Amino acid sequence: MSRRYPPINPKFPHLLHGGDYNPDQWLHAPEVLEKDMRLAKLAKVNTMTVGVFAWAALEPEEGRFEFGWLDQTLDRLADSGLYAVLATPSGARPAWMSQKYPEVLRVRPDRGRNLHGMRHNHCITSPVYREKTALINDKLAERYKDHPALLVWHVSNEYGGECHCELCQQAFRAWLKERYNNDLDALNRAWWASFWAHTFSDWSQIESPSPVGEDRLHGLTIDWMRFVTDQTVDFMLNETKPLRTHTPTTPITTNLMGTYPGLNYWKFAEHLDAISWDSYPSWHKGKSHMAISAATSFHHDLNRALGGGKPFMLMEMTPSLVNWQPVCKLKRPGMHQLSAVQAVAHGSDTVQYFQFRKSRGSSEKFHGAVVDHLGTEHNRVFGEVAEVGRTLEKLDGVVGASTDAEVAIVYDWENRWAIDALEGLKKGDRKYLSTVLHHHRPLWEMSVATDVIDQSVDLSKYKLVVAPMLYMLRPGMAERLRRFVEAGGTAVATYWTGIVNETDLCYLGGWPGDGLREVFGVWDEETDTLYPEEHNTVVAREGNELDLHGEYVARDYCALIHAEGADVLATYRDDFYADRPAVTANAFGKGKAYYVASRNDERFLADLYQAIARKVGLKRALGATLPKGVTATRRSDGENDFVFVMNFNDAPAQVDRGDTAYRDALTGEPAAGTLQLKPFGFTVLKTTADKPAASELTIETFDTPATRTVK
Ligand code: GLA
Ligand code: ZN
Repeated sequence: MSRRYPPINPKFPHLLHGGDYNPDQWLHAPEVLEKDMRLAKLAKVNTMTVGVFAWAALEPEEGRFEFGWLDQTLDRLADSGLYAVLATPSGARPAWMSQKYPEVLRVRPDRGRNLHGMRHNHCITSPVYREKTALINDKLAERYKDHPALLVWHVSNEYGGECHCELCQQAFRAWLKERYNNDLDALNRAWWASFWAHTFSDWSQIESPSPVGEDRLHGLTIDWMRFVTDQTVDFMLNETKPLRTHTPTTPITTNLMGTYPGLNYWKFAEHLDAISWDSYPSWHKGKSHMAISAATSFHHDLNRALGGGKPFMLMEMTPSLVNWQPVCKLKRPGMHQLSAVQAVAHGSDTVQYFQFRKSRGSSEKFHGAVVDHLGTEHNRVFGEVAEVGRTLEKLDGVVGASTDAEVAIVYDWENRWAIDALEGLKKGDRKYLSTVLHHHRPLWEMSVATDVIDQSVDLSKYKLVVAPMLYMLRPGMAERLRRFVEAGGTAVATYWTGIVNETDLCYLGGWPGDGLREVFGVWDEETDTLYPEEHNTVVAREGNELDLHGEYVARDYCALIHAEGADVLATYRDDFYADRPAVTANAFGKGKAYYVASRNDERFLADLYQAIARKVGLKRALGATLPKGVTATRRSDGENDFVFVMNFNDAPAQVDRGDTAYRDALTGEPAAGTLQLKPFGFTVLKTTADKPAASELTIETFDTPATRTVK
């Protein structure tokens, strides 16, 4: 249902535009800092993220706190009508702390302890580090709780990694005791520890996975990853406690890293008031922008879904180049604006950068910034940033508007850990994430809104649930999927589904397990893995219900399935399993469950999802003909709809808007007829809510220039 969510902080009910700002690096040069507020205003920036790595400036010696510079910074922001996204500094600590308390230093899987340096490398269990972070956070919150500039708390920075020190080992064992109800036999069984005589006879024998110790007990590996997530969440809660006490109404976020594999972000989401993430796609890598644009949209869709659908924050992106990528390419003219608008189009209420002012030295001196070493507003990048700011000011009406997704695609962290850990299939190349991305892309190309969810999310509000390679079924998932299809939902699953339970024990009695065999009407007997140079061919059956046609190429994995009640829509052409089913459809309850037994080409996925979209009647953001490389999204507050039309081509594109009465949200002018989009151009159309999408849409397939018309 369309609705308007409250602004991230009602204190400033506008789209946020800002960036990481490190005055602590310029305290010796006040003349530089004095210029910054003027530049911020010129850049149409309304927030600054301050203090992210400022611990050494805030507490130069143990117990001696220096808040003068931060007082001045926040006062300056407030005096200029700007707001602060105020960070807690735990992402990096002062040298005195590592020197005096070595336990704060992280221990690697090989059990060596790191030296001081870098960042994001603290022990997540150390009582000293927890005490020190809680103390500095308490002081920050106490001091700034009533400051007019305080808008959002930015807790730490990009939590990540793991620590294998003795304190963490003890915490891990305690976590396991709780998980297995103090029953070591239950743990041994759950991990199948009798294999290679790995049975534990005492809890103290259990160690975290290590290249110099145990790394083949997959149940252990997956439980360790779960522990690392829980322990990091616990670390975060220790950080947020003083903030909640002093500033109960100031929203809290921490900047996530997309699909960073090390932490299950769904466990963080429930403790955050706003979800935020840092987006660094390799724009302009390769000829086509489609794959990168689609993947970036997928990550935005994930962050929106993590917040239960409410607007998220794009906490970081670069205004120009990213200095840590293998090739540090400049964003081409227009791409900065387009990528900023893309975030808002998918549900962000902010566009924020790393970084506002470029540092003069050290690691990130060549990373893109709003203010360059030049130090003025007279350069290309500054101009493009200011243009984004002007655009965002015109889109005030979008604040809080929702995205109504009828489709969910499952990307599940625990499943990823299990797929990464297993031995089998194609070593080092199982491609779980890219498979999910491939299934998401045709939906994105059709301008169908999609939530990216995990196995813990309620499915009942969706019409279509896509769950590629759902190897590990977490408790309750099979049952939820069964009820979803029974009640009329449509599900798509693929090869390598329902193989193991949550501790990586294989289901006995035929796959997909845990009852899904009946839902999909197939028995998945074996999986053939293909060498890179090999492929099989999937041949569509005449008159199949999805209108699949011709031959599709299958690579990497071909499951040998038996139809047990499902209709066969396509079969393999080659090898000893020629003529065996390759794509099936099963009517189950009031719904449909499709099984795609092999990893098929992009044309197949385009055909599959176009047909399903038509059958299920999925809403699209724009009822118009969309040329290749142009997509649309829709945000609605129930009264007004905002349709973002984006051209990811470096060539102009034309879009026929159809008959709907739109206004150009940026100019307020009526907008009808053909829309001309510049290379990397976009437009935002406004219309009253609940206009039905046109019944006809042309969608292009990924790899062929041909267009097909969906009725
Ligand atoms: C991350 C960090 C920032 C900065 C940027 C550079 O997202 O959070 O501090 O290092 O990368 O791209
Ligand atoms: Zn540790």
